[in-house]
Amino acid sequence: MAHLFDPIALRGLTARNRAWVSPMCQYRAVAGLPNSWHFVHLGKFAVGGAGLVMAESTAVESVGRISPRDTGMWDEDHVEAWRPVVTFVREQGALAGIQLGHAGRKASTAPPWEGIGYVTPENGGWNTVAPSSAAFGSLPAPRALTDEEISLIVQRFIWAAAFSDEAGFDVVEIHGAHGYLLHQFLSPLSNHRTDKYGGPFENRVRLLLDVVGGVRKEWPDHKPLFVRVSATDWVDGGWSLEETVELARLLGELGVDLVDCSSGGAVPDAKIVTGPSYQVGFAEAVKSKAEVSTAAVGLITEPWQANEIIQSGKADAVMMAREFLRQPHWPLLAASELGVSIDWPSEYERAEPRRR
Ligand SMILES: Cc1cc2nc3c(=O)[nH]c(=O)nc-3n(C[C@H](O)[C@H](O)[C@H](O)COP(=O)(O)O)c2cc1C
Repeated sequence: MAHLFDPIALRGLTARNRAWVSPMCQYRAVAGLPNSWHFVHLGKFAVGGAGLVMAESTAVESVGRISPRDTGMWDEDHVEAWRPVVTFVREQGALAGIQLGHAGRKASTAPPWEGIGYVTPENGGWNTVAPSSAAFGSLPAPRALTDEEISLIVQRFIWAAAFSDEAGFDVVEIHGAHGYLLHQFLSPLSNHRTDKYGGPFENRVRLLLDVVGGVRKEWPDHKPLFVRVSATDWVDGGWSLEETVELARLLGELGVDLVDCSSGGAVPDAKIVTGPSYQVGFAEAVKSKAEVSTAAVGLITEPWQANEIIQSGKADAVMMAREFLRQPHWPLLAASELGVSIDWPSEYERAEPRRR
C-alpha cells in the first residue's frame, strides 16, 4: 500500500513523492518567454518539497496560446528561457514537467482578472482555429482547420516535445482537457466534422492519438509522458467517462505513463458539481478499468485527504493547484503532519516543526 510520501518510478525517473504541482497559467510571459516570475513561481514549489512541478499550459505555436501572455515552446528562445527554471527545479530534487497545449477556439483571451474575454487582433490577439466553426460562449467563432493544418499541429506538438527535452524537462504532459484544442476534437459538443476527425469515437480521438504517438517517438524513452483529460463534459451528449476509459486504454497502449484526470471546460454552461475530491472518482475509474496509472486533481487540500487517495489505490499521485498557491511548502508541512520524516532544504532545516 503506497503512501503519499513514497517515491514513484516513472520509466527511468523517480519522483520523490506523489504530491505534485498541477499546471497553472500565470499570464506573465512576453512573446511566450518565461521570466523571473516563472522562476520564482515554480522554483518555490520545488523548494517546498513537491515531487513534480508541472509548468503551466505552454503553447506549441503562437496562435495556440490561451492569452497573449502565455508561455510558449516553439523556438530556441523558449528553450533558453525555460532552461534556468528547469535547472533550479531539478536541483531541488523535484521532477520538472511541462504541459504542452493548444487553446484552439479558446485562444486569444485576456488574463481572467481583466474580465474582458477575447483580445482582438487590433489589440495583440488573433483569429482562432478549431475543429469546427462553433464558438465557445461569447468568444468569436473560430475557423475550422483543414487536414493539412491538423497535420501541422501534430508536428508542432512533436517539435515542442523536442524543445522541452532540450530545455531539460523530465516530463511532458499533453493538455487534452478543459475545452482546449485536443479536447475540442474529442467532444461532440465542439467537434461537428464529418471527415476522419469527426463523428464516431475513433475519429474524434484521432488527433490526440496522433499527437501522443508522435510525441512518444520523439520524447526520450526514459522520460515519462502524461496526458491530462477532462473525464467528462458534465453535459448529456458530451464527452463521457466511458469514452475517457476507452481513450485511456488506447493511450496506455501508445506508451502514455499516466492519465491526469480533470473534467469540464468544453462548454461554458455545464452544471459541474464540485466539492472536496470531486474528481477523484474519475481517476479511480480510469485506473481500475483502463489499467493505467492516474493522477487525481481538484479540491484536494488536506494531507490526510491526499494520503487517503494514494493509500486506497484510487490514484498514483495527487495534483494540487490552489493549495500550493496558498502554501508553497505544503509537502514539507504535510509530511510532518502525517508523521513522515522527509528531507528539508538545508537552508530551511531550522524551521522544521520537530526542531521547535
Ligand atoms: C491560477 C490557475 C491556473 C491554471 N492553469 C491551468 C493550466 O495551465 N493547465 C491546466 O490543465 N489546468 C490549469 N488550472 C487548473 C488546475 O491545474 C487544477 O486542475 C484546478 O485548479 C483544480 O485543482 P485545485 O482544486 O487543487 O486548484 C489552473 C488553475 C489555477 C487556479
